[in-house]
Parts: sequence; C-alpha cells; structure tokens
Amino acid sequence: MSVAARTWSKVVGSGSSLPPRIVSNDELAAELAGRGIETSDQWITERTGIRQRHIAEKGVTSSQLGFEAAQRALEDAGVDAAEIDLIVVATSTPDFVFPSTACLIQARLGATNAAAFDVQAVCTGFLYALSTADAFIQSGRARCALVIGAEVFSRILDWSDRSTCVLFGDGAGAVVLKASDTPGILSAKLHSDGSQMKILCAAGNVAYGEVTGDPFLRMEGQSVFKLAVTVLDRVAREVCEDAGVPLSDVDWLIPHQANVRILNATAKKLDLPIERVVVTVDRHANTSAASVPLAFDTARRAGRIQAGQTVMLQGVGGGFTWGAALIRM
Ligand code: ACO
Repeated sequence: MSVAARTWSKVVGSGSSLPPRIVSNDELAAELAGRGIETSDQWITERTGIRQRHIAEKGVTSSQLGFEAAQRALEDAGVDAAEIDLIVVATSTPDFVFPSTACLIQARLGATNAAAFDVQAVCTGFLYALSTADAFIQSGRARCALVIGAEVFSRILDWSDRSTCVLFGDGAGAVVLKASDTPGILSAKLHSDGSQMKILCAAGNVAYGEVTGDPFLRMEGQSVFKLAVTVLDRVAREVCEDAGVPLSDVDWLIPHQANVRILNATAKKLDLPIERVVVTVDRHANTSAASVPLAFDTARRAGRIQAGQTVMLQGVGGGFTWGAALIRM
C-alpha cells in the first residue's frame, strides 16, 4: 500500500482545564503540620520537582474539568460538537460507577453524533485513549474524535500519607483528532503487566452499598520509579523503530509528568537534550491520565510545538501499564 493511500489521525486542536485553587508546597506542608504530619517544600522539590498543584473544590468532577478542556480543544480546532463521532475519556476518578464520564461530557457538549466511552489505564490512560481513537480513525470507523484525560486524584489520596499525598493534583486535557491523508500519529504502542499491581493501586470497590477494601491510592515509590524509567526508555525506542524515525529526530518528548527525576533519567537514557523535554510537573504535579494532554496543550499554547514537528507522548502508571505515541504535527 502506498503511503498516500492510508488514513492517518491528525491532531487538529487541544485544550486543558485546571481548577483555580493552587496549593503550594509551603501551604500543603503547613496544612499537614496542623495534623501532625511533617513535610517541607525542600523535601518535595528535591525529590520530585513539584512546587505546587491545582486542587478541585468539593463538587467539581472529572466530567466538569474534562468538559472545559474539550470545549477549549474544539474551539482551538474550529470543530463543531456535531462533527465529533467518537469521544474517549481516560480517567481513574470517574464521576460515577456508570454512566461513563465520556457520556456525561457528550451530553454537555451536545455531541449528538458521537459514540462515547471511558478507558482506564491510570497514568497511561491518555495513551490508551489516544491509541484507541487512532485505531477507529485508521479503520474508517470514525472521522473526528475527541480524546480526553480528566482526573480529580485529590479524592483518592490518603491525606495522612505524606509519601503519596504531596505528589498529585487535579486537571484535564483534551485533543481533537481528524482523519487525514497526511501523516499524523505515526505509531502508538501499549503494554501492561498486571503482576505488578501491588506497587501502585487503589484496591477498593463499591459493593452492597459500601466501599469495601482500601479506597486510597497506595504506592511503593522506589519500585514505581525504577520500573517507570526502564519501560519509558524501552517504549520510546519501540515507537521510533516502528515509525522508522530516529530518536534524534524527536523535537519534543512529553512523558507522563510524575517526577522530574523520572523525566531527567528518561531523557538521559534516550540521549535527548533536556531542553527538548516538556516539563509541567513543577506546576501541575502528577495529574495521572490528564498529565500528558495538559503538558501537550501547555507547550502548544506557549508556541513551543510547531506544525511539522515530531512529538513523542509517553505514559506509565498503575496496572502496571505503559505506552507511547509518535506524532507528526
Ligand atoms: N516529606 C518528608 N519526608 C518524606 C515524605 C514527605 N512528603 N515522604 C516520604 N518521606 C520520608 C520517608 O518516610 C523516608 O524517611 P526515612 O528515611 O526516615 O524512612 C524518606 O523520606 C525517604 O523516603 P523514600 O520513599 O525512600 O524516598 P524516595 O527518594 O524514594 O522518594 C518518591 C519518594 C518521591 C515517591 C520517589 O520514590 C518517586 O518519585 N517514585 C516514583 C513514583 C511516582 O512518581 N509515582 C507517582 C505515581 S506513579 C506514576 O505516575 C508513574
């Protein structure tokens, strides 16, 4: 098949939403101190690079943040809600058990021609959602897709566990994909290893009208760190090889924003200058499935990502899951 004969998914717009309340490390440390828990701006900054996070007010949900991000992405793309035929939302903090957060956003947008569903792959969620939408477009099952990552992770944190509660924030990001006869998503690869579930999980559920099990996020930080750096290196090489694009041709690397030390270690392993890595973890903290589209939109709106450039998105997180996508803008 000639290159021109295939259908590509092209990113034609992006948007994001952050709750207005910003909590600095100092503010968080003071709040935790009031409950007898010791932490400091210095510890958090040195170990993670995080300086602040956005926290949603009570009652603000993933669908609210996802809807705002989607509206901005549609406006950016110049696409009407009626044109969308697919909505995929990545979230591990949905509004309800059901209906899906995607259906709630579909209704608010008035996207009456769209199929809508959620995917759940924690911090890799956006990569899973993007890759799913890409497969729909490549196969001709969709022409215009909205892909959203939206989270209110602050709701599943144990605020008495300093080893996790300082790491996360709330937010949403979205992209619009359109079928195109010019290259867009060049390659996307997804992976999982459920045998590693214990190193990062929120192992509770709703049954018989009660939450059973542990409803909070639990993490073995050092195990997650080591595995993240290993798989991010591996999957970056995999998508480049699949697309026939040398790593040195990647203009922007946008890894999941968990920890600046993971970002630095990944860039070093891949021999990419740190100037080509988009970093937003300092301002947003880890927003799980929202982190990659939030970072992408932030860099795009700052004019850093330009048409024709090659961008690599990477996700890694609970499951354990990981994945990457290589995109020609
Ligand atoms: N403030 C002050 N001290 C703390 C805090 C805190 N918030 N949290 C832990 N400590 C203490 C520990 O109790 C420990 O004290 P001890 O030596 O007296 O026992 C000490 O700091 C060192 O703890 P470690 O867990 O060894 O610290 P480490 O250097 O591994 O950093 C961290 C912890 C930041 C979580 C790191 O392991 C990490 O970044 N892991 C990656 C995990 C990650 O980013 N997860 C996000 C979700 S997963 C994902 O998105 C891929």
